[in-house]
Amino acid sequence: MQLKQIDYDKKECALSIHMQNDYAKGKGYGTKAEQIAIKYAFDELGMNVVNADTVEKNIRSQHVIEKVGFNFIKEDDCFKYYRIQR
Ligand SMILES: CC(C)(COP(=O)(O)OP(=O)(O)OC[C@H]1O[C@@H](n2cnc3c(N)ncnc32)[C@H](O)[C@@H]1OP(=O)(O)O)[C@@H](O)C(=O)NCCC(=O)NCCS
Repeated sequence: MQLKQIDYDKKECALSIHMQNDYAKGKGYGTKAEQIAIKYAFDELGMNVVNADTVEKNIRSQHVIEKVGFNFIKEDDCFKYYRIQR
């Protein structure tokens, strides 16, 4: 998991996550990890916005992103784009 593209002037960053092992998926760890990362971005890094994107076909990732509070912004041929605001 990464918080990347951290911009302290705009107070924005981007979240990315990739759980490698299929055995660990679907047990709530991804949801929990995203919640912790968002809280860290807001509370510790002082961000106001966290961005995220998923490939169009990654329904599970989109579901988790929306579950933790991200709002859908737009989509193109490949990706869906989301953001969550403090
Ligand atoms: C996406 C990812 C971070 C999610 O983490 P996870 O620990 O597997 O997910 P969780 O167990 O926390 O939650 C999975 C949720 O998706 C739902 N889900 C699973 N498969 C689904 C599908 N095909 N369509 C819709 N929802 C689905 C589950 O029901 C669960 O939702 P619920 O809690 O409301 O019932 C993880 O699976 C992962 O890293 N996958 C591979 C890489 C990847 O896709 N990264 C994101 C790139 S944008």
